[in-house]
Amino acid sequence: MYTLIKNLEIWINKRFPLDKLWKEHMSQYYAPKNFNFWYYFGSLALLVFGIQILSGIWLAMFYNPSSLEAFDSVEYIMRDVKYGWLIRYIHSTGASFFFVVLYFHVFRGLLYGSYKKPRELLWIIGVLLFLCLMAECFFGYLLPWGNMSFWGAQVITSLFGAIPVVGGPLVEWIRGDYAVSGVTLNRFFSIHVSAMPIVFIVLIATHLIALHEVGSGNPDGIEIKENKNEQGIPLDGIPMHPYYTVKDLFGVSVFLTAFFSVVFFKPDFFSLFLEGPNFTPADQLATPEHIAPVWYMTPYYAILRAIPNKLAGIVAMGASIAILFTLPWLDRSPVKSMRYKGILSKISLFIFIISFFILGYLGMEPPSATKTLLAQICSFIYFAFFLLMPIYSSIEKCKTVPNRVK
Ligand code: HEM
Repeated sequence: MYTLIKNLEIWINKRFPLDKLWKEHMSQYYAPKNFNFWYYFGSLALLVFGIQILSGIWLAMFYNPSSLEAFDSVEYIMRDVKYGWLIRYIHSTGASFFFVVLYFHVFRGLLYGSYKKPRELLWIIGVLLFLCLMAECFFGYLLPWGNMSFWGAQVITSLFGAIPVVGGPLVEWIRGDYAVSGVTLNRFFSIHVSAMPIVFIVLIATHLIALHEVGSGNPDGIEIKENKNEQGIPLDGIPMHPYYTVKDLFGVSVFLTAFFSVVFFKPDFFSLFLEGPNFTPADQLATPEHIAPVWYMTPYYAILRAIPNKLAGIVAMGASIAILFTLPWLDRSPVKSMRYKGILSKISLFIFIISFFILGYLGMEPPSATKTLLAQICSFIYFAFFLLMPIYSSIEKCKTVPNRVK
């Protein structure tokens, strides 16, 4: 059996660079030896993506994307299909966990300046992935054809109507109808299950190729490629496999414990992952009392609502994501990691995170005068964090970065 496998391996390697790829990207890819907790989330993002694709394929076998059947087909999956409830809850919980994982992944970037030279393009591809995930969840959220699905899509598509001149026709073009209807459901289904996954796969591959080209960063912000031994191996590096594959397996086991605790014991997660009004079918005549997006979109929704003018609100919401693209050039600090940055960067990041959480909370709540004012203050802080970065990151006093990883 062993000889058979060995011979097969030789046969493949003569025709396809299996060994070469494995060595280049795993057993001889040298990653810094000081990865910490924050470096679990890239591999976890890959895991959640895999979970979503697999559970999604199984859901699509039983789901029916027509306005007359969609809601009932989800009920059929939940009640009649063997383990259908499990597959559906894995997929719905996976969407929220994908965002949790990515928010941690992006926070690591902010903490350790992972976006700084030479990883600017890697960061930009990451922001594109983040946008893709938002789009994917928006399209997917219409599919159960619950009342919140319907009204959520109605509200978000109508935002495009605020664009001068082309707004009206654009909304109709997106919906394929005068209002969200079965036609919209069909196209959202098609985009959700085919177009977006392809874009994801291409972007994830590009993200990883770019990462392996420049090499991984680390919590100290030291470029390990600058200190190599005679064989050209970074002195502060260890092979990805087996060291980080084993470390990542630990992360995977902790993650899966948390993930399946939610799937089995609290799949709606206090109405945050699956919202109450979505357990009733879409009804054009019954607007839910309070329309709010799922928790992961609420910080941006709060920015949108904080601005009284609809078009200006949309521009601000778009800008709140778009500004991430420019981050590598806004940060003028001579060092990468927060460990060596000055007090101004530390305080700014702290206040930014707090206001991001407040925005997330406000986006879930019905608006009031006080809440709108608070949302305006937090939106101001959100943008100030980025726009003032060229100033505070260049004037503060930083610590000296050591040459080698300790
Ligand atoms: C589907 C989404 C994503 C997947 C599957 C993914 C996957 C990965 C993986 C496996 C790594 C290497 C391990 C690690 O550093 O944790 C990584 C690194 C990185 N990712 Fe992502 N990522 C995603 C989204 C993002 C986003 C949204 C951003 C930022 C906006 C981003 C920015 C980065 C950066 C800057 C690095 C390099 C960090 C360093 O080496 O210091 N990624 N990503």
